[in-house]
Amino acid sequence: MEAPPATTPSPIRLIRVPESFANLESDLFQSLGATVTRKLGRNYRLVRLTDPTQAPPPDLAGFISWNLPVHHSWPCNPRNTDGFIEHAAQALAAKFSASNPQTVLVGALDPGSPNRYYRSLASNLRGRLLQLFPDHCSRLREATDQNPSLPTLFCHVGNEGLFCGLQSPRQSGGFHPGGTRFIRQSDAQTISRAGAKLAEALHHLQLHQSPPAAGSHWLELGASPGGMTTELLRRNYRVTAIDRAPLDPRLTGTSNTLTTIIADAASFHPAPGTSYDALLCDMNGSALDSIRQVLRLAKFLHPGAPAIFTLKLPGANTLDEINQLSRTVIRTAAAGGLNLIAKVHLTYNRHEFTLFLQPSSGS
Ligand SMILES: C[S@@+](CC[C@H](N)C(=O)[O-])C[C@H]1O[C@@H](n2cnc3c(N)ncnc32)[C@H](O)[C@@H]1O
Repeated sequence: MEAPPATTPSPIRLIRVPESFANLESDLFQSLGATVTRKLGRNYRLVRLTDPTQAPPPDLAGFISWNLPVHHSWPCNPRNTDGFIEHAAQALAAKFSASNPQTVLVGALDPGSPNRYYRSLASNLRGRLLQLFPDHCSRLREATDQNPSLPTLFCHVGNEGLFCGLQSPRQSGGFHPGGTRFIRQSDAQTISRAGAKLAEALHHLQLHQSPPAAGSHWLELGASPGGMTTELLRRNYRVTAIDRAPLDPRLTGTSNTLTTIIADAASFHPAPGTSYDALLCDMNGSALDSIRQVLRLAKFLHPGAPAIFTLKLPGANTLDEINQLSRTVIRTAAAGGLNLIAKVHLTYNRHEFTLFLQPSSGS
C-alpha cells in the first residue's frame, strides 16, 4: 500500500466524551479551545476547534474517548432520504478512495440503542463502500488487524446524518468507529462489569503494542470477584490473582492456570526467581497506595511487559482535582520505573481512567 497523502486538519471534530465526565464537559471544551456546535447520538459532540493543528494536551486527552476530524458530513435523516446508502457510498468513494485508506469502517452514532436500524444501516453502507474502494480495504479480517498508525476512513451514521474522517486508529482513539466495539453487558457473560473493561483494555493495548502471547503469566491485583480473571483465562493466559476477598466460586478449582491468593497485596512477595509477563491492577482505595504496590511488584516483570492500571479517582471531582491526582500517580509511576504509554477512559470505566504502563528500559 502506498503512503497516503496527508489530510488537511479539519477544525470540525467528532468527539466522544464519556458519560462519567459529562458534568465536566463545559470546562473541558473551554480548556480545549473548542465550541460545541451539535450533540450527536448519546455521547458525541460536533465541535469547532480554534486551532485544528493543536493536539489536545495529555491531561485533557484522557477525557476524550474518540477524536475524529470531520472531512465529510451529510446532515440528513437517513431514514427519510431515498437512496441514502448509494448516494453516501458514491460521494465517499469519489472523495476518499484515491487517498487509499487501509480500510473503511462504519459505526452507529448510538451503538447501544435497542433499535437495530442504524447498526444495520452502518453494516450495509460498509458493504457497499467496500465494493467501491480499492480491494485491499475488504481484506481486513479483524479491526485489530489494522495498522494503528495508517489512516482509516471512519464513518458514523445516525438520526443526525453521516459524519466521516480519515485518520489513523491511534490518533482517533481505537480500532472501531467510536473507539472500542460496543459490548452489551448481558453479552459479556462475565462475573463482573470489570470483565468487559479488561476486554476493552486488551483491545486498546494493541494500538500501542502486541498483546502478551497465549500462555503468558499475569499478576493480577484486586481480582475479586473475578470478571477480569475470567477474561484472562478465556484468552489462555496463566493468572496469579490476589485480593483480600475470595474470587467467585465459579472460578476457583476449575482451572490449573489460576493461582489464587487471598491476602492484602502489600503482603504478597513473589518467590525469588519469579517473573511475570504482564501486570493488571484494579484495586480500589487510594490510587497512590495502589501504584506503590504496582511499582514494588513491577520489579518482577519482564522487560517491555505491559502493566494495566485502573486509576480510581475517589474524591477528585473537578477537572483540576482529577488532573492533579492523575499527574501525581503518573509521575510516581515514572519515578519508580514505569512509563506511561497511554491514559484512556474506556467505555466500561466509571469515575476512573485506565493507564497503560511499561517498565522503562534498564529498570
Ligand atoms: C473494583 S474491585 C475489583 C474487581 C475485579 N477486578 C473484577 O474483575 O471483578 C476492587 C478490589 O480490590 C480489592 N483490594 C483493594 N485494596 C486491596 C489490597 N490492598 N490488597 C488486595 N486487594 C485489594 C478489593 O478487595 C476489591 O475486591
